Amino acid sequence: MGQKKLIRFEAIRSFPNVLQYPEGMAGQWGRFYKNDHPLTLELACGKGEYTVGLAQMYPHRNFLGVDMKGNRLYIGAKKSLQENIRNAAFLRTHIDKIASYFNKGEVAEIWLTFPDPQLRKSRFTRRLTHPKFIRLYQQILKPGGCIHLKTDSPVLYQFTKWVIDMYHLTLLEDSDHVHAEPGPIKDELKINTHYEKLDIAQSGRIHYLSFSLPEQPLPADQDAALHERVKNEEPAPPERVRPPRTSSGSPHTPNN
Ligand SMILES: C[S@@+](CC[C@H](N)C(=O)[O-])C[C@H]1O[C@@H](n2cnc3c(N)ncnc32)[C@H](O)[C@@H]1O
Repeated sequence: MGQKKLIRFEAIRSFPNVLQYPEGMAGQWGRFYKNDHPLTLELACGKGEYTVGLAQMYPHRNFLGVDMKGNRLYIGAKKSLQENIRNAAFLRTHIDKIASYFNKGEVAEIWLTFPDPQLRKSRFTRRLTHPKFIRLYQQILKPGGCIHLKTDSPVLYQFTKWVIDMYHLTLLEDSDHVHAEPGPIKDELKINTHYEKLDIAQSGRIHYLSFSLPEQPLPADQDAALHERVKNEEPAPPERVRPPRTSSGSPHTPNN
């Protein structure tokens, strides 16, 4: 492991705004933030641009960035400490375990910011808008709580629209091309993330969806039909391009 990563891992151990795989947090977030303001999660937060940006925009709400990579969330956590942004914090964990960290109704909103689109059809159940994950979000979101997806992937955007349609979720906003909409873009969508700048999908577009969930758990009887749709209607994923090698000989990963 690189020296920089080691330093960051060591640093976040003492950061008061970072919790790593904590236990017993369900029902305790008000105590953690020392207020009872509504809580928004940013899942797959990476460096936490949305967690920090929204916290600055909404001082009377709490924000929690969630990612399994400590060296990435270090960036947002450090900025929050340096700028004394007390309503932003970070949880290092696997999103698959998200329901164990909150009581029902403890989360007001969820942002999914450029999550991995998992383009290989064999991996589509790992998409963060797959019904498997939506069922987890249902366990923690308050009634009417909203989910926001921002992505540059047309595949993930279309897939999420299928999920919204097939499982009768309530679509609140839908933009196929945020920057081409008539009228001013809303402030939340102006926040720029690391992956947004990388433009990996090279779609030339930022897609945005917001939707809310029904009270009842999503029915399982649509899961097979969704699988069929992915198999038959999605384009084949692009060939994997080998990342260029750095001068040290190790593959270049622009996103650590
Ligand atoms: C494509 S990056 C996006 C990061 C950031 N939101 C951005 O826009 O720059 C996806 C992030 O999801 C995180 N991630 C992927 N699967 C995860 C999981 N199951 N649990 C926690 N984090 C996960 C990765 O560590 C990575 O930081």
